[in-house]
Amino acid sequence: MSIILIGFMGAGKSTIAKRLGKEVVDLDQLIELRIGMPIADFFAEFSELEFRKVENEIFQEVIEKDWIIATGGGIVENEKNRTALAAHSQVVYLTSDFDTLWQRIINDDLTNRPLAQDKTKAKDLFEQRQKYYEAVADLVVEVAQKSPEEIVAEIQNKW
Ligand code: S3P
Repeated sequence: MSIILIGFMGAGKSTIAKRLGKEVVDLDQLIELRIGMPIADFFAEFSELEFRKVENEIFQEVIEKDWIIATGGGIVENEKNRTALAAHSQVVYLTSDFDTLWQRIINDDLTNRPLAQDKTKAKDLFEQRQKYYEAVADLVVEVAQKSPEEIVAEIQNKW
C-alpha cells in the first residue's frame, strides 16, 4: 500500500519521499508533465480551480498504487481527496510551525508556488488547512528540529 505524505508547502514532502526508497511519485511533477508547463504558469494562464481539477484527477489515479506519494500542500482542499485520504491507512503528516515553513519557502524556489507570494495569505491558508491535515493523518511527524534521516526513521519505524 502506498505511503502518502501530506503537509503544508516547505514541510519537505518531496525530499522525504525520495529518501523513503521504493517507487516515488511527486504529484506536482506529474501535474507539470500533464499540463506541459510550470504550475505557476498554469495558475496565471488558467486558474487555481483548473489546477485543482488536474491535481484531483491525478491523485485519484495514483492513490491505489504501491508507491510513496508526495502530494502538494493543497491536496486537502478537495473533499473527495480528504475522503480518500481518511480511508487510506498510511498517511504521514509532516508538520511544523508556520514561521519555520515560511523560512524554508522563501529560501526555496518560489516559481512553483503561486500561493506563497504573500506571507499573510499563506499563513491564513496554513491555519485553514491544519484541521484537514490532522483529520486524515495516521502518523504526525514534527519536522522543524529534525534531519531528513530522523524523519525517515520515524516513518520506517511505524511501517
Ligand atoms: C500548493 C502547493 C504546491 C503546489 C501548488 C499549490 C498549495 O506544492 O501543488 O503550488 O496549494 O499549497 P508543495 O506543497 O509541494 O509546495
